[in-house]
Amino acid sequence: MDGNGRWAKKRALPRSIGHKFGAQNFRKITRYISKTGVKILTLYAFSTENWKRPLEEVNALMGLFRQYLIDSLTDFREDDIKVVFIGDRSAFDPKLVELINETEEVAKNRKGMLLNIAMNYGSRDEILRAVKMLCRDVRDKGLDPDLITENDIASRLYTAHEPDPDLIIRTGGEFRLSNFMLYQSAYSEFYSTETLWPDFHEEDFDKAIIEFNHRSRRFGGV
Ligand code: IPE
Ligand code: MG
Repeated sequence: MDGNGRWAKKRALPRSIGHKFGAQNFRKITRYISKTGVKILTLYAFSTENWKRPLEEVNALMGLFRQYLIDSLTDFREDDIKVVFIGDRSAFDPKLVELINETEEVAKNRKGMLLNIAMNYGSRDEILRAVKMLCRDVRDKGLDPDLITENDIASRLYTAHEPDPDLIIRTGGEFRLSNFMLYQSAYSEFYSTETLWPDFHEEDFDKAIIEFNHRSRRFGGV
């Protein structure tokens, strides 16, 4: 979800207003996507590197997370959306962690779309965490290093038991992953659009899906 800052700048507004409109869009587009038949949606809300931003901006984002989680709870319930947070939540304010835990708890038995919200998520951090788990299993559970499989890695990522993403959409025109699902995206289709996140609406999502449907996916085969 990139481009909130530029969206605000174009309108001579503070960056935090861009984030506010971005958060509104998060709520709207999630509801729409959940109705299109998509089974799993991951939204990259805050990266492990985003803490580098000015404190004022980080605080504005944290305030929006709290507000939008509370506001979205009704939508998530109405649309039967199951919510899971991926990333290291221990870095957040305890009150926000409580809200995150509650949001997951009330949604855990839902049967609709799975919504992963990536917050303080970084794929290198995720891989490091998986490596540490594997090392502990070698040390404490007699796991033979020569028998470690790709699945042993995948099942220790935040996305354990989820299929790899088919399509990764990046708004705001950049062509990079920015530490997003480095392991899982080996054969994901990448789609970049100049559209800034607050302007990314239903028809833009449909356009991405149409393009995705025209891609030829060979997964290294012929
Ligand atoms: C939103 O867009 C991404 C978040 C971290 C919430 P940006 O804040 O990166 O917007 P630009 O790239 O400055 O336009
Ligand atoms: Mg950006």
